[in-house]
Amino acid sequence: MISERMQAAINEQINKELYSEYLYVSMAAYFDSLGLKGFANWMRVQVKEERTHALMMYTYVNEVGGRIILQPIDGPPTDFESPLDVYAKTLEHEKFVTSRINGLVNLALQESDHASNAFLQWFVTEQVEEEASAKEMADQLRIVGDNGHGLLMLDREAGTRVFTPPAAAATIGPI
Ligand SMILES: [Fe+2]
Ligand SMILES: [Fe+2]
Repeated sequence: MISERMQAAINEQINKELYSEYLYVSMAAYFDSLGLKGFANWMRVQVKEERTHALMMYTYVNEVGGRIILQPIDGPPTDFESPLDVYAKTLEHEKFVTSRINGLVNLALQESDHASNAFLQWFVTEQVEEEASAKEMADQLRIVGDNGHGLLMLDREAGTRVFTPPAAAATIGPI
């Protein structure tokens, strides 16, 4: 059985994951408005990942006898300065999420909630990857600068990204 405090904290994190999904939909829309379909695809993969994260947490809370209580999702930013601005904001956002996940782990340790700690470790590892992939895109865009040819090359590469549901998400069913 999950504690009230841990239940509330994971519910709050579900809200953050759904906000992340919403944020990346907004970023995909920005790229689509510029005709950068590859970056838009990259963001849509990100959207699916965030939805998966939320659903993994949803499933876990149910499994441990908790209750899902959803809160309103904040509106995402709708305008961005440039592709680099988008990825810089993505990295910033992922760092924020990492700090939230770390906070959840701290709470689990405080409460000697080993099940939640074990569950959350997957997200600790996932956040390393999330930050690394956003940083890689931001770094490459910084290198490309104002070079349109380079930007189109990166866009093409971003278009090859595909969503692979994580093995840990098997319990939530098709996404
Ligand atoms: Fe996430
Ligand atoms: Fe993320």
